[in-house]
Amino acid sequence: MKKNFYITTPIYYVNDIPHLGHAYTTIAADVLARYKRLRGYNVFFLTGTDEHGDKIARTAEKKGISPHELTDKVVIRFKNLWKELYISNDDFIRTTEFRHIEAVKEVFLKLYKQDDIYKGKYKGWYCISCESFWLESQLKEGNLCPECGRKVEKVEEESYFFRLSKYQKKLLEHFEKNPNFVLPPTRRNEAIKFIKSGLKDLSVTRLKLNWGIPCPIQKEHTIYVWVDALLNYISAIGYPFGKEKFSFFWPADVQIVGKDILKFHAIIWPSILMALGLKLPKIVFAHGWWKVNNEKMSKSKGNVIDPKEITEKYGVDPLRYFLLRELPFGGDGSFSTFLFIKRVNSDLANNLGNLLNRTLPLVIKYCDSKVPYPDKENNDEIGIKKRAEEIISQLDEMMNTLSFSKALSLIWEIAKLTNLYINKSAPWSLAKDKSKEGEYRTVLYNVLDSLRIITILVFPFIPQSAKKMWNQLGIEEELEKQILDEESIKKGIIPGTKIKKGPPLFPRIEE
Ligand code: ME8
Ligand code: MG
Repeated sequence: MKKNFYITTPIYYVNDIPHLGHAYTTIAADVLARYKRLRGYNVFFLTGTDEHGDKIARTAEKKGISPHELTDKVVIRFKNLWKELYISNDDFIRTTEFRHIEAVKEVFLKLYKQDDIYKGKYKGWYCISCESFWLESQLKEGNLCPECGRKVEKVEEESYFFRLSKYQKKLLEHFEKNPNFVLPPTRRNEAIKFIKSGLKDLSVTRLKLNWGIPCPIQKEHTIYVWVDALLNYISAIGYPFGKEKFSFFWPADVQIVGKDILKFHAIIWPSILMALGLKLPKIVFAHGWWKVNNEKMSKSKGNVIDPKEITEKYGVDPLRYFLLRELPFGGDGSFSTFLFIKRVNSDLANNLGNLLNRTLPLVIKYCDSKVPYPDKENNDEIGIKKRAEEIISQLDEMMNTLSFSKALSLIWEIAKLTNLYINKSAPWSLAKDKSKEGEYRTVLYNVLDSLRIITILVFPFIPQSAKKMWNQLGIEEELEKQILDEESIKKGIIPGTKIKKGPPLFPRIEE
């Protein structure tokens, strides 16, 4: 039986068009989804859009259109971008969809009936930008939001509350028993510290706002956008109405978010799940921020980079590669074209691209464009293969902890070793000596097989380039159908396969 794997991204606000930060999270999730498919898992990869709330309503108002019109327009930008970036999501949920709205109402009712939601009075401060409620004691001087520094609004109104405080102890126990529940460890510690400082019940409805899901108990109230949004992860797989898909995929294996929304995913979300009697996701990974001039890239700061500007100039795979290779997942980094070009030229053009581009002409010239039959192997070849096998087994651990950068550097080690092997064995001179025919056939065979293995390994990261490499290697089986296991690695490229040289895959960027 196939093992299941459920992975999610945050659902993004549609108050503005997607930027590089959104692309980063979604690409990371895509890479892991593709990797798990390659390992034979039955993957469900979900992304979507968060379409309710003050932010959206206000943006629509400013533009003089209805929130519906705004969301319908902007959601296309997200969907198109994901297509352009080869995102392989299996579903796309919008919180304005019927399936979601009905699920949220049902969950709200259930929580109310079991007294996990109760009616009370909310007194405090609200930050529209962060969509967060604050206590007076939490504010920065001058009534400013402790998170974003903007002015907060005083609110005093009737509200429904979720008994977050009730879950404090259970939540801490869960963190203790599951050291990988929230990753990386810095974020885990942050979450634990926050829980220990004491959880207060959470106001989960607003009176003033009507762009949202109406509270099923009292329709003048609107459900707080974060409760609405978080439930997408289960409404998309049928909760609470259809049990089959849900029982198949829940709990999620990995939920990737940015560290800006850690509290919602490490504290509020698991508490809601506990209240519903559902299992918690296995891993919530909160990655770091791409910054520009040391400031977080964000819509509200107006310093965002449009991923399309980069992909139109340099291609999609170089961007996918750069984002996951340059920055250890979890840390912060600064985006710069200089670093981008440097990285792409050294790793993609000079290393991997060069390996392919120097090998195929030799096969054309000396082997009639066919993968040669290898002769006896010597220690060098056996060494590469052994190292490749070690790397492949380490890779799984790297990928399971979302250490994409380390995973890539391991894969690139195979390319480097293979390049060194060609340099050392110099097949171009072996080919000139009739008595060395067996040797050069062996060398070229092993280089081609190494390229086959590398192509499978890079497929999740740079899918389109990997497909082109695969085509150039002439392998008939589909790349998408490859399963990464011991057997497929040992199998080897089939001698006699006709290679098809194409244009260089990663031309050097000259700037
Ligand atoms: O928070 N660097 O949506 P959002 C890296 N709708 N990642 C970044 C980033 C940056 N500079 N900027 C944004 C919301 N991101 C809610 C989520 S989930 C139930 C609801 C990424 O449009 C990162 O993943 O503000 C971050 O968490 C997310 O975009 C926030 O997107
Ligand atoms: Mg945000």
